[in-house]
Formats: sequence, structure tokens, C-alpha cells
Amino acid sequence: MTGKTHLKADILLPRHVAIIMDGNGRWATAQGKRRTSGHRAGAEAVRKAITFARRNGIEALTLFAFSSENWGRPAREVNVLMELFMTVLKREVGELAENNIRLRVIGDVTGFSNRLQKQIRIAEEKTAHCNALVLNIAANYGGRWDIAQAAKTLAQRAVAGEIASSDINETLLAEHVCLADGPEPDLLIRTGGDIRISNFLLWQLAYAELYFTETLWPDFDDMTFAAAIDCFVRRERRFGLTSAQIQQLAGSDNEHED
Ligand code: FPP
Repeated sequence: MTGKTHLKADILLPRHVAIIMDGNGRWATAQGKRRTSGHRAGAEAVRKAITFARRNGIEALTLFAFSSENWGRPAREVNVLMELFMTVLKREVGELAENNIRLRVIGDVTGFSNRLQKQIRIAEEKTAHCNALVLNIAANYGGRWDIAQAAKTLAQRAVAGEIASSDINETLLAEHVCLADGPEPDLLIRTGGDIRISNFLLWQLAYAELYFTETLWPDFDDMTFAAAIDCFVRRERRFGLTSAQIQQLAGSDNEHED
């Protein structure tokens, strides 16, 4: 994977970026093409975004590829998307491994064909040892589904006597939602102009900075990604504290580094 844009090394980058890739259909329609050609162009933008994240030392990139609600789209579009996931997984897995990128799929994969489930397993296994960037593809994923599956696991553990129901708190639930083994998303980017979260990572986005752009996903490139990061680094993240407290904390961190 090659590319040119590098961000300055001295700025505090997000460790984990999540993206709602929206606007493929409108991009295609605007060019007089079928919606499905927008998804194919979207796959190219995915490649660029991964390259950008890898090159700039972002630790985790989570892409919303297919929501639990997307099954309701016309059958042809769903079929093309499924075939596209298959092709991309097969085609890119070698290059992901070469670039030390670990691929994981989050979501209810049992909803996919056996063929696709197998391809997902192969890609996850081939890249399991990689650690420069974790690429999470959210497929047949919904934030409510994620919280419900975490609650179900906790209920099962309580019934099995492994935990008491009184042990269940935010910390324990957070350990059972998807992506629990990495940093929470610092930045959520949504392309395509809509200003909503659409049932993506509802639990994990609690303290993420949100960035919305009119850019349609197939047009998302290094410049757009860099603009989102640039906006992120200018934000003050307070996590419920006051601005003065945050500055004091930053000051004491700097003292420790000196
Ligand atoms: C939303 O645009 C996009 C999707 C539902 C599919 C995203 C899929 C890709 C980018 C293809 C490749 C992905 C991977 C991970 C290989 P939309 O169709 O809702 O666009 P619209 O809002 O303009 O109709």
C-alpha cells in the first residue's frame, strides 16, 4: 500500500477512528450509474482510508460496512454488497498481512452465507498475528444488537454462577461489547451529509468526538481524512471534567515527561 500524505508527528492523533461510510448510492446516481457501482467505488475509498490510517500510526480503524438494517435493501444491491465483501476479503488479505494489519469482523456473522463466513474466518486467521493497525469491519452489526449480546452473555454467566447479578455494572458490560480489547473510538467520522449515528457503536462512542462531512464516501480521500483529524486535534476533550481541570492534568503529564 502506498500513498503520500503524512500528518505531523508531534500532534496527538486519535488512537481509534470509526467511520460511517455513507453516500455510495448518491455518488453513483449523480453520475447516472447504478447504486452498486457506488459501492464498488466505495471499496476503493476503503483501501485509501486503511492506507492513511496505517501510514499515520492510527491503532484501530472501524468501518461500518453493513448494518443489521441494510438487509431491507433491494435484493440485487444486498447480493452485490455480499459479493463485494467476498472479493475484497480474498483479494486484499495478503496485502493486509504484508502491511501488518489485523482484520476482524464485528457483528452477527451467522447472518451471512457459509461461504462468506468461511472467507471471514480465513482473513481473520491469516492476519491474527498482525499488530500495526487493527481493521474492524462492522458487518451485520447494530449497536443495540451489540449491547443486547453483551447483556445476554452476562445473564448466561450469572445463571452459570460465574458472576453475581450484583456484579453487573458499566465496567463489566464494557468488557462484553464488541471491541472491548482495544481503545474506545476517539473520533467518529460520518460521510454523506447526514448528522446521526444510525445504531453504530452506541456504547463505545460515548466519549468520541463526532465529525460529519458532506463528502460522499467514494470521494473520501487523504485530504478529507486529514481534515477530520485536523478538526479532532483542535477539540478539547473533557470527559465530564472542567476545562481548567483538563489543563491542570495536561500540565502535570508534561511535568512527568520532563
Ligand atoms: C452506505 O452508502 C454504504 C453502504 C451501506 C455499504 C458500504 C460498503 C462499501 C463501502 C463497500 C466496500 C466495503 C468493504 C469493507 C469491503 P449508501 O448506499 O447508504 O449511500 P446513499 O446514502 O447515498 O444511498
